[in-house]
Amino acid sequence: MSANSLIDPFGRQVTYVRMSVTDRCDFRCVYCMSEEMTFLPREQVLTLEEMALIGKAFSELGVNKIRLTGGEPLVRKNVLHLVRDLGALPGITNLAMTTNGSQLPKLGAELQKAGLKSVNISLDTLDSEQFTQLTRTGKLSNVLAGIEAARDAGFPNIKLNAVIMKGRNDDQVVPLVNFARERGLDITFIEEMPLGNIDEHHRGETLCTSEEVRDLVCQQHELVASTENSGGPSRYYHFADHPSRVGFISPHSHNFCGDCNRVRVTSEGRLLLCLGNEHSVDLRAVVRRYPGDIERLKATLHEAMTRKPERHYFSAEGEVDIVRFMNMTGG
Ligand code: 5AD
Ligand code: SF4
Repeated sequence: MSANSLIDPFGRQVTYVRMSVTDRCDFRCVYCMSEEMTFLPREQVLTLEEMALIGKAFSELGVNKIRLTGGEPLVRKNVLHLVRDLGALPGITNLAMTTNGSQLPKLGAELQKAGLKSVNISLDTLDSEQFTQLTRTGKLSNVLAGIEAARDAGFPNIKLNAVIMKGRNDDQVVPLVNFARERGLDITFIEEMPLGNIDEHHRGETLCTSEEVRDLVCQQHELVASTENSGGPSRYYHFADHPSRVGFISPHSHNFCGDCNRVRVTSEGRLLLCLGNEHSVDLRAVVRRYPGDIERLKATLHEAMTRKPERHYFSAEGEVDIVRFMNMTGG
């Protein structure tokens, strides 16, 4: 194995890290959380300095893309400091964030100045009542204002993410696509994943497959398949008549593991080698036992690569194989 890169036993190189900066969120989306959530005690969550060190270690091992996620990353106090630290790393050419958008009216411009390159904003519906049902505590107007703030800030890449559930928001597929087109944004539709025990609905009944979503889009617009591959689970299409792109993330119907290029770090500092498996390595133990020791951290990351599983085994019936909630995992 090369000393300056992270390559797993199946020959896949890790160049992309998703880091959850908090398990907390101002929303309670029905597919992500239960109504009553217990969040981690603060001392169990990595400090921003610990996260910056982990990011630096990854960048020195060939990682060029870091995505900050949550929970909701923008409810973490002083998250701008972390964005600045990671944005200043020479190896990191793409610093990205996945956000629910509610804090973007306040923080969008500063994030752009701090070095954030791209934002994915979750938007599952344009109907404000449905929005409040799906997020329990969210307000559509804040998120729409957040999307405008991100556009004003001039991010080169803004993408919308939508989780579509049958009987809940499948009527929103075409309105969301048109919303994205009108603003020149890309949109990705995500199949709901069986992460965490939720009580609000039965996932087997609400699963809306990417194929079904694509059929809905195609009733209105002509889509052209793209050969582009992000090393992730997305499959992309272009419109025949418009530059916006439509992506589909299909953990159920598509096995994307063969060219996986990513790992995740939870807000507690657990390195997850695969979204669909429990294999993990405790990075918090290393950074707390040997503060500031980046070489020790890099050796731990190298060793961890030997444990990356070949693939995930999500089941289509919506059974929960993984007890972690998405807000622990970071998308
Ligand atoms: N299945 C699929 N996507 C999910 N998200 C959260 N929970 C789930 C789930 N169970 C998505 C949100 C957002 C990102 C943070 O993760 O829609 O885009
Ligand atoms: Fe918060 Fe995102 Fe989970 Fe919704 S999906 S509760 S916005 S972390």
